[in-house]
Amino acid sequence: MSIEDLGIEYRAELPTAAEFERLFRSSGWTEAVEVAADRLAATLPHAWYSICARHDGQVVGTGFVLSDGVLHALIVNVIVAPEMRGNGIGTEIMKRLIARCRESRVLQVQLFSARGKRGFYERLGFEARPDDGPGMELGGLS
Ligand SMILES: CC(C)(COP(=O)(O)OP(=O)(O)OC[C@H]1O[C@@H](n2cnc3c(N)ncnc32)[C@H](O)[C@@H]1OP(=O)(O)O)[C@@H](O)C(=O)NCCC(=O)NCCS
Repeated sequence: MSIEDLGIEYRAELPTAAEFERLFRSSGWTEAVEVAADRLAATLPHAWYSICARHDGQVVGTGFVLSDGVLHALIVNVIVAPEMRGNGIGTEIMKRLIARCRESRVLQVQLFSARGKRGFYERLGFEARPDDGPGMELGGLS
């Protein structure tokens, strides 16, 4: 089925806190990370750019860019509702986030690939960082 057939509407907007929480809790990440509703809501105003995909008015996909607008951008929370996956919605959200970064000529656009999603991001042009210049993170802060 094509995206046109699905009638998905993409908007450069933030979801409401309730919409985001519903989608976030459908992602499967909450088994590993427990984040209270008020803390999830507190993330939203920090997005530099965001896309919502809607089907019949309901949010079925999100994606956000955290950025300084010049040097760095981090793509986060690319989530599609489980029942809507595999229809190109995640790809379309990513394309729009990338286009916005390109428009501002942001130097480095980065993301963390969830397990099993490497191919999804490689098809969009992302490459794993080299072994001698890896992405690194500080664990154990939650
Ligand atoms: C990752 C995620 C956002 C992808 O969203 P999606 O809407 O399913 O993505 P797409 O439909 O664009 O692509 C998914 C697959 O469907 C395929 N596909 C895309 N359009 C398609 C179409 N019209 N018909 C059939 N298959 C299609 C793609 O080739 C892709 O294959 P892959 O799984 O081997 O990469 C979604 O799986 C998700 O929300 N997962 C949980 C949260 C998560 O892990 N997010 C990523 C954090 S790094």
